[in-house]
Amino acid sequence: MSSLKFDGLHVDVPGFAFPFLFFLFALPLFGAEPNSGGLPQGRLLHSHARPDQAVVKHLSLDLVVDFESKKLTGSATLKFERKDDAKELRLDSHGLEIRKVSDQSGAELAFKVGEKNQLLGEGLTVTLGEATTAVRVEYATTDAAEAVQWLTPKQTSGGKQPFLFTQSQAILARTWVPCQDTPAVRITYDAKIKVPSRLLAVMSATNPQSRNESGVYEFEMKQPIPAYLLALAVGDLKFKSLGDRSGVYAEPDVLPKATWEFADTERMIEAAEKLYGPYRWERYDLVVLPPSFPFGGMENPRLTFATPTILAGDRSLVALVAHELAHSWSGNLVTNATWNDFWLNEGFTVYFEQRIMEAIYGRNYSEMLAKLNLASLREEMEDLSPRDTWLKLDLRDRNPDDGMTGVAYDKGYFFLRRLEEVFGREAWDAFLKSYFDRFSFKSMTTEGFIAHLKKELLDKDSEKSASVNLDAWVFGPGVPESCPTVDSDELLKVTGHAKAFLEGTSLSVVDAKDWSTHHWLHFLRSFEKPLPVTRMKQLDGQFGLSKQGNSEILHDWLLLSVRSQYEPAYPALERFLTEQGRRKFLEPLYRALIKTESGRELARKIYRKARPTYHPISQATVDGLLEWKASE
Ligand code: BES
Ligand code: ZN
Repeated sequence: MSSLKFDGLHVDVPGFAFPFLFFLFALPLFGAEPNSGGLPQGRLLHSHARPDQAVVKHLSLDLVVDFESKKLTGSATLKFERKDDAKELRLDSHGLEIRKVSDQSGAELAFKVGEKNQLLGEGLTVTLGEATTAVRVEYATTDAAEAVQWLTPKQTSGGKQPFLFTQSQAILARTWVPCQDTPAVRITYDAKIKVPSRLLAVMSATNPQSRNESGVYEFEMKQPIPAYLLALAVGDLKFKSLGDRSGVYAEPDVLPKATWEFADTERMIEAAEKLYGPYRWERYDLVVLPPSFPFGGMENPRLTFATPTILAGDRSLVALVAHELAHSWSGNLVTNATWNDFWLNEGFTVYFEQRIMEAIYGRNYSEMLAKLNLASLREEMEDLSPRDTWLKLDLRDRNPDDGMTGVAYDKGYFFLRRLEEVFGREAWDAFLKSYFDRFSFKSMTTEGFIAHLKKELLDKDSEKSASVNLDAWVFGPGVPESCPTVDSDELLKVTGHAKAFLEGTSLSVVDAKDWSTHHWLHFLRSFEKPLPVTRMKQLDGQFGLSKQGNSEILHDWLLLSVRSQYEPAYPALERFLTEQGRRKFLEPLYRALIKTESGRELARKIYRKARPTYHPISQATVDGLLEWKASE
């Protein structure tokens, strides 16, 4: 692996895929230019951009949102900095219809759309004049815009207005904005978005709090962010304040429930600041999207996007808010330099999330979450290749989505918890706080983090340092033996009940009325094998699980039902798979269904109906599982 200086840190150059070219061109070039203003050199992982030649600094978007043609149409003006001899600006674009490119004075520029590439998109190369400092790309999105979902009124809660939202992470920003779509490049942006006048537009930027008659909204993001944090949502949205600097957007009939559920948001911001320093983005708002949002949450700066499936009615799923909020430091301030370093975003964020949860709800609560996470991680690892269980990933020629496993999240978390365990909370917290500060608004590689960790912590105590087992965590498979232990007396209680039930004890002795969501999840997950249908009936009869309103509990119950072929739960299964499109819920259920012939048939029948309601991201995943053809 060729290692190059990058902001005083090291960046790995993905040169392997083309070893020949790499040696011919790359080595001499890199060798001669070890450092160019802190930018990664040469070809990048998952991007056509060459920021070492010309690097975009600011984006001005001017778009019209047309629900009839399902197109975003307008222009992106990109201001950039360039090396004197740079002859072109390379951008990422994927399925965009590029209409015209001109410079800052309006003169047309030659451009070339690259070859089709399913994963990375075609890319757009603009030929620069000697004095070109900005390019204006006139374009429209097409049906290939995988970031964007256009919802019919029926797919919303209100049922009267259409809705649109984007999901740019990891490499889908390029499907709705021509940009340098790599987390190693940061831009500031402003935007003017025109929408039908009955709708409100919000972005990962300064946001309006009410509608205006013109339907034109202006936005500004003054802090530099990577392209994967570009985000837009348009719909019948209303705003309600949660506190001095936080609030929630949702459709009018969802807003009261959302406001109640997120009541602790302001406390979370305070707890986070107390831990790792000031919140740097002024406001922290949330927008609750329709149920086809493919993720639980997305940390779009100033405005977290969230699934309505966390509105449980008892605030039991608000760890997700703590998680997305924590990204305001880990991820949005200090950003993984490549998707191979994804754990720097997610592992740090789970760690920070846990600390916020502990600060507000106590250690017993956060330990329940930790225990559930560790069990899921171990289970998930059984299905992963050993190489995919390293923290440092290798996603060359693969979709960065492949890295979105519990490894980055939970192995990452336990590694950081191991560091806390060895060095003590005080020293560890001081380290983390200064890390976020020192590298704010910068990208970070795994190797850069390790170098910093060694300098600030490990090298100061060789004995402690050895007991961390750093290499086993970062460059080795599985969960290392030095993994901290998690004890949750709370959760132990329910395992006893599950065991007794399997051995024949009647459920009538189980007093579950005080169980939290997490007790339920642990209880259901403790049945490792399929249950006999008679047992499933008893559980359902006693606890009404098929009628469960909590999405997490229902998901686990339905999964157990599919594995146990408990058919009375199938109507609830079909409803669940058609009423929401969160990939984390869809994937395990479809995967379990296709293990049997009849399940496969049912899966295909349900999917035929549900597919048009899913976001392209979820569609792509389920298409793959079911080997679905576009013509079906
Ligand atoms: N940034 C992620 C979501 C993501 C990761 C989208 C990679 C696309 C590619 C977000 O912060 C996240 O982790 N969401 C989780 C919830 C969280 C509580 C673990 C999710 O959506 O399930
Ligand atoms: Zn996350």
